[in-house]
Amino acid sequence: MTKIITKDSIEEAAQAIANGGLVAFSTETVYGLGADAFNEEAVKGIFKAKGRPGDNPLIVHIAKPQDVYDLAENVSDTAKILMDTFWPGPLTIIFNKKSTVPALVTAGLNTVAVRCPSNYTASKLIELSSKYIAAPSANLSGSPSPTTAKHVKDDLFGKIDYIIDSDECIIGLESTVIDISSGVPKILRPGAVTLEMLKELFPDATSESNFEENTDKPKCPGMKYKHYSPKAFVEVVIGNSDSVKSYISSKVESESGVGVLTYKTEGYKGAVLELSAGNNMEEYAKNLFTYLRMFDEHSVKKVYAEFCDEDGIGVAVKNRLYKAAGNNITRV
Ligand code: TXA
Ligand code: MG
Repeated sequence: MTKIITKDSIEEAAQAIANGGLVAFSTETVYGLGADAFNEEAVKGIFKAKGRPGDNPLIVHIAKPQDVYDLAENVSDTAKILMDTFWPGPLTIIFNKKSTVPALVTAGLNTVAVRCPSNYTASKLIELSSKYIAAPSANLSGSPSPTTAKHVKDDLFGKIDYIIDSDECIIGLESTVIDISSGVPKILRPGAVTLEMLKELFPDATSESNFEENTDKPKCPGMKYKHYSPKAFVEVVIGNSDSVKSYISSKVESESGVGVLTYKTEGYKGAVLELSAGNNMEEYAKNLFTYLRMFDEHSVKKVYAEFCDEDGIGVAVKNRLYKAAGNNITRV
């Protein structure tokens, strides 16, 4: 049985975490599916509920930055600067793990990913449970990450103990994951903490060169799996707005069951569903996962998604969108 509660009953959900239960909760990025990181049976339950491969490690969530010292060995000066600047917030830092952190959480790696979320519900849940919470995104493995309680319900109802229907996920894409083992931050998964922001503190900060590429041994294990995919096929269309408009219009006319995710143009008569991704990349980020799910709800078979290369959080949008499209990109 899954109980859906509001944050007024958060105490009850925190108790469930303390007792080894599974609780879905909002964060500022996406909904997480949480369990006590030090309870191996509970952590196993996360992998089972999501259908997540066991070699994909989990992020451990803490309520206060100083809690990192219970999880990480050797917190470097680089880490301290990042923690001071970006925590609480949408940044996950990879540390050498303490031996007490269960291998199940880190998929056998000797590192642990730690994040201190800024969202009220997330920090309150961690604090009230008196645990550190291991939490991946609260979706079925492979499907778009959830940004509302309804998305979680659609994927996991009956498989977890609680869903806290609470604050919206204001960013809409998962946290930036960074590796600091070389002393200089390197982005493994792009997010709302951007390379530009990191470069202000560390001019030599870098980024995995091609997030879109599927390699067998990426440093961020989750990046190799099929991700963020709706049931509909997705094709990303890039080019000047006239060419994009005429390319997609011809598809809408000649194919059935077409949906369009617009960015710079609009007005596709005959599409099953047309949704505007927004006016800038922050809005695109916030809307992307919700809209991918909406196309499925309307039984759209093929989504044409307009996109423009932009910096900042645009890099993260590109990463998620290209993955949703299985790298099916058309330049017109
Ligand atoms: O915003 C977020 O990060 C959300 C919310 C719930 O906090 N969580 C999230 O978790 O996106 P998940 O499990 O969906 O993605 C975690 C990513 C995966 O790609 C995983 O491989 C990577 O972080 N990761 C976890 N531990 C790691 C480690 N020790 N070294 C390298 N990558 C790691
Ligand atoms: Mg995920």
